Amino acid sequence: MASAAGYAAFELGVAYFGSMNTQSRKRSSALRWHLVGVLLVLGIGLSRCVSDDPIATPEDSSALCDTMTVRFSAEIRDVLRRHCWECHASSIATAGVILDTYNGVNARVTSGQLLSAVRQDNRLARPMPNARPRIPLCDLRKIEIWVAAGAPNN
Ligand code: HEC
Repeated sequence: MASAAGYAAFELGVAYFGSMNTQSRKRSSALRWHLVGVLLVLGIGLSRCVSDDPIATPEDSSALCDTMTVRFSAEIRDVLRRHCWECHASSIATAGVILDTYNGVNARVTSGQLLSAVRQDNRLARPMPNARPRIPLCDLRKIEIWVAAGAPNN
């Protein structure tokens, strides 16, 4: 991709200078390769913007974040299982917080603590997951969408 666009830019430069008369070609001989070089760099730079290579990760790309269906029993439980159950499953219930049952989660939705926790908005005593970075944006979005929909037990 990069080489194709670079080559196209090169051809453009050659065509441009080929169209000049001999007098001006001499005058601009120093400029010639300079401009070709600039066009080459430009071509490579542009080709990077339209590269087919996947640069974005599922975490930070909304295109790859599927929020079409967000149900408590599937997507939400999955997010909580991955990020929170280690400390907040019923069997552990750190700080009395239970996040593997609908009632347990819904209590934290009502209190506003669930969103505060996953957003890490500094309203809780400690950011959650405890002492760890914020959960990935895609997971956060799913929770926000589900809460905004009234946190249904679906
Ligand atoms: C590694 C263990 C750990 C993980 C993982 C974890 N927590 Fe916690 N959580 C704690 C501890 C410890 C506390 C008690 C913090 C305190 O009060 O100082 C706590 C407290 C909380 C509280 C109550 C905060 C308060 O101010 O009363 C909420 C809500 C909470 N966690 C939500 C979550 C959510 C949501 C996740 C997943 C995104 C999560 N936690 C992941 C350990 C954890």
